[in-house]
Amino acid sequence: MQKPMNKKTSPPGWNTESWRTLPIKQQPDYKDPKKLKAVEKALSTLPALASPDEARALKRELADAAHGNAFLLQGGDCAESFAEFSDDNLRRFFRVLLQMTMALMYGASCPVVKVGRIAGQFAKPRSDNTEQKDGKELPAYRGDMVNAMEFEEEGRAPDPERLLRAYYQGAATINYLRTLARGGYASLSRINRWNMEFAARSAQGKRFEELIERINEAVGFIKACGLPIDEVEHFSEASFFTSHEALLLGYESALTRLDRTDGKYYAGSAHMLWVGDRTRAPGEAHIEYLRGIANPIGMKVGPSMTADGLLRLIDILNPDNEAGRLTLISRMGSTKVGGLLPPLIRAVQSAGKTVIWACDPMHGNTIKSPNGYKTRKFTDILSEVRQFFAIHKAEGTFAGGVHFEMTGQDVTECLGGAQAISETNLSARYHTHCDPRLNSSQALELAFLIAETLKKQKA
Ligand code: PEP
Ligand code: CO
Repeated sequence: MQKPMNKKTSPPGWNTESWRTLPIKQQPDYKDPKKLKAVEKALSTLPALASPDEARALKRELADAAHGNAFLLQGGDCAESFAEFSDDNLRRFFRVLLQMTMALMYGASCPVVKVGRIAGQFAKPRSDNTEQKDGKELPAYRGDMVNAMEFEEEGRAPDPERLLRAYYQGAATINYLRTLARGGYASLSRINRWNMEFAARSAQGKRFEELIERINEAVGFIKACGLPIDEVEHFSEASFFTSHEALLLGYESALTRLDRTDGKYYAGSAHMLWVGDRTRAPGEAHIEYLRGIANPIGMKVGPSMTADGLLRLIDILNPDNEAGRLTLISRMGSTKVGGLLPPLIRAVQSAGKTVIWACDPMHGNTIKSPNGYKTRKFTDILSEVRQFFAIHKAEGTFAGGVHFEMTGQDVTECLGGAQAISETNLSARYHTHCDPRLNSSQALELAFLIAETLKKQKA
């Protein structure tokens, strides 16, 4: 048994509040700082949603991904919402994520690390501080954790109480997902059956009939060997993790806890936190907070990143070069990734830094459709993922994972896919609270296309 440590081992000059004196971007303008303080105080006494032991378990799984022995699947809503919170929606999301996991496991021939953008993904960075409509100007919607999406004065005022509501929704979300996994919902034979149904019943699935049949045979073989197939560790509750963008640092630091087993501080709001592309400046508050917590962390890497800037951030965020600590989430866009990603990969390689490279093919491919909807083309998304894999193969590095905005619902937010969603279809079920998500069929299709690509690469 590990002996409890009474010594704190946080990095020099860091404490849970050290970010407060630094410049900070993308924050709500709260009109009642006293109320905010009171809410943060309340949060600091509440139980954490994720434990240090779980965060360390995720770090070990991600360390495997850093060495090419596991693959990260991170996905969920762009922004979770209070209104769309229901067991149905959670179950549908989890089901698609599990089906994708099975496809990717088969394609990559290795375990898949499952991380949801869930149970805390409620705060959004925005391009503009305000929004104008019909001659009226109101604060921009910054996620349900901050204000209301409806364009209406009272609701758009940032309200600290929403931090507590997000916390409780996060707690209920994690609880429900664990209940599902524990109750056998995530059993291998059941996931296999869903994939067989996808192949048999939908036009999209038909394209993958052969691949799904091969997975079915593999599952049948394991069963025939008499192995306890429905207790496979990688589908059990123990190996589903949560993540979100660490944007509201008052919320994050209020839920940060010292773990006495290793003397380190852990974010308790999720297992993994990431820093967005707009808030990752060295010397600013977000990087300061993240450097001091011991969880696995992610960093979005967009077109403005330079090789020197990246190495500097890696040194700040992962000074001990620990495998599994840092996931670089590349989000360049399908027309830019080919030029921008290789020099960054080379810089990281020649500096001897151990990271997981994951591909977010969503945020560099957002466009506005002629009828005004923010959307993304399935072909651009697929193209960025494929280029990401090809680049890593050419560089001799590992393509360690993917990061998607997706939902288990049948929404019409991204264009194309075998369902052929067109610009005129977008208005039918466009429900997102922020960016356009892949619907369940598009998400599954993408996972199977990636599985095919991976299989071919290995052949
Ligand atoms: C997001 O992941 O929803 C997001 C805002 O991403 P990025 O920071 O990469 O723009
Ligand atoms: Co988004």
